[in-house]
Amino acid sequence: MKKTLLSVMLVLGCVLSACTEASRPVSITPVPLSCQQGEGSFRWKSPTTVLLTDADIDATVIETAFAGSGLPVELRQSADEDGHVVRLERAEVLPGSAGADEAYRVEVTSDRIRIQAKTDAGFFYGIQTLAQLADPAGGTVQAAVVEDAPRFSYRGIMLDVSRHFRSKEFVMKQMDLMATYKMNRLHLHLTDAAGWRLQIDRYPRLTEFAAWRPQEVWKDWWEKEGRQYCEQGSPQAHGGFYTKDDVREMLEYARRRCITIIPEIEMPSHSEEVLTAYPELSCTHEPYKQADFCVGNEKTFEFLENVLTEVMELFPSKYIHIGGDEAGKASWKTCPLCQRRMKKEGLKDVNELQSYLIRRIEKFLNANGRDLLGWDEILEGGLAPNATVMSWRGVEGGLKAIQSGHHAIMSPGGYCYLDSYQDAPGTQPEAIGGYLPLEREYSYEPVPDSFTVEEAKLLLGVQANLWTEYIPTEEHAEYMLYPRAIAVAEIGWTQPENKSWQSFRQRVLSDVLPKMQAKGYHPFDYSQEIGNRQEALQPVDHLAVGKKVEFLAPSWKNYPANGPETLTDGLRGGWNYSDGRWMAFVSDKRVDVVIDMEEETTVHSIGADFMQICGPGVFFPKKVIISVSTDGKDYQQLAEIDHEVVKDDAVSFKNYGWKGEAQARYIRYQSFPEEKYGGVHFVDEIVVE
Ligand code: ACM
Repeated sequence: MKKTLLSVMLVLGCVLSACTEASRPVSITPVPLSCQQGEGSFRWKSPTTVLLTDADIDATVIETAFAGSGLPVELRQSADEDGHVVRLERAEVLPGSAGADEAYRVEVTSDRIRIQAKTDAGFFYGIQTLAQLADPAGGTVQAAVVEDAPRFSYRGIMLDVSRHFRSKEFVMKQMDLMATYKMNRLHLHLTDAAGWRLQIDRYPRLTEFAAWRPQEVWKDWWEKEGRQYCEQGSPQAHGGFYTKDDVREMLEYARRRCITIIPEIEMPSHSEEVLTAYPELSCTHEPYKQADFCVGNEKTFEFLENVLTEVMELFPSKYIHIGGDEAGKASWKTCPLCQRRMKKEGLKDVNELQSYLIRRIEKFLNANGRDLLGWDEILEGGLAPNATVMSWRGVEGGLKAIQSGHHAIMSPGGYCYLDSYQDAPGTQPEAIGGYLPLEREYSYEPVPDSFTVEEAKLLLGVQANLWTEYIPTEEHAEYMLYPRAIAVAEIGWTQPENKSWQSFRQRVLSDVLPKMQAKGYHPFDYSQEIGNRQEALQPVDHLAVGKKVEFLAPSWKNYPANGPETLTDGLRGGWNYSDGRWMAFVSDKRVDVVIDMEEETTVHSIGADFMQICGPGVFFPKKVIISVSTDGKDYQQLAEIDHEVVKDDAVSFKNYGWKGEAQARYIRYQSFPEEKYGGVHFVDEIVVE
């Protein structure tokens, strides 16, 4: 990767200049491939003539790009004219580079402006850059030459419009900002237990009933017995859905901004709303009972294919996202139809049954000229032959898909889940999923060093996900999205060599946020950030650092942290359980580990921190037992620490420890769950002094 990039840079004969340094007046986000600032500036007449020198340049796209820029223009189809104008010219820019299809070159002198691009998207992005070179108030555009292309072809945001429905106006407003920062994929999570959000003519109950619930706020609905739906138009109905006309309007809005909207229709799980409206599609045929479609029943396939047919009629996206995440699969184990299907198809377990459904749906999509995209669970039971994986449970799913020759899009929870806290949790509205401040978000590098050039090509890009369980309002959604989504825009666009946290932070504070606020968005005020669990993030020194840990109960593979050394690596966990420092345990006994101190050692304290954040099911232990042994056989119990586990909305940390004096070669540390809550135990660091 690095070699290719270097040769591109050498061919260009240009070195990245300081267009984005704080001391200079010009600030371009995301940082372009190269930017040479020139002398003087172009005086912007109101309006300035823009010449479309090629008849097939889409004037609606160009008009839209300028309308968002604040630079008044008059478009003219003409190849011959010149003068004090902006000329748009079709040309290959950075041919052969990975991002050539969206590449552009902008040249601004005091006499004229020239934007070259191969595609309308290239022109669109050139105009976004021009807008950032401009000082609309002063009526000038800074002289410069910018040559630019994206690092990745997929630069996305996912909006969950199921948990809390969002108006089409809200969705379009977010597309404006995506376009400004050169993001090009909007993934809409249209269906989930909390509400179905898309008109489907063949199945009217999806929108007459499954789109409405008696509680406006998801948490109230979720915690209410029975999680009911209600009829559209009934006095207590909250929710909504997009009509096909709404979707067409959003699609046209997206098209003019070079954004592809990717619809997600969840299967086989997260489908309580469908299976309550159409209970015959579940294994037990009972409403309000199942989240998973019955995979043994042909009616399920008839339903899914009919729905997908209407989806494909509406959405031009090559990718159709079919969800695929978090299926419980329990009812399949006893359902006669599912069991019959497994026997007939020679499927050895329920994972293979899920894979059967995904493969069949993929065939259907492929036959209709579309490609299947799904969350990384679609790997389980065998990946469908042409599927693309969206990696969310860490990066492993995406890496595995790529290593078997598939495409992947990275949206790992620890970096890309914008429903996490962005600042000290006590100062923020209730959130889910730990702590993800802007700096950590920005630090994400999607391509591992170990990748070959060929593997890197299969990694299509990155996506920020906004799940909205705890995000009931539009303002709150913008607060969670920004500025963090802009960090994802820069990860997706900018070559890693050109990224700089200091520069990004400065641009966010001095340029991105003020402009966003002036346009009526409601971002988190990053200038007021409180910051990290700093004291926890300092390396600690203690007697067990580097000592080997034996796992009597396995750790949870979904959060591999820093490997088996995590508990004794001298690094304590921060606010976020996905920060690679917390180790997760879900088996019956939760934590059950033995540290080998290598020789008999006098110890005075043994303790570890646990995290509790109840939303995603992370609980403190009810009990911790600490014991020691000199021979690894007979253990002496030092402490049994009891704790009453209380459910709350906070993110909390608690140390379970012992103090005294003992001789230890082996130290055993065990935790036990509060049965009524179950959940995961996240623990770190076992500090021995
Ligand atoms: C997911 O967060 N369940 C994809």
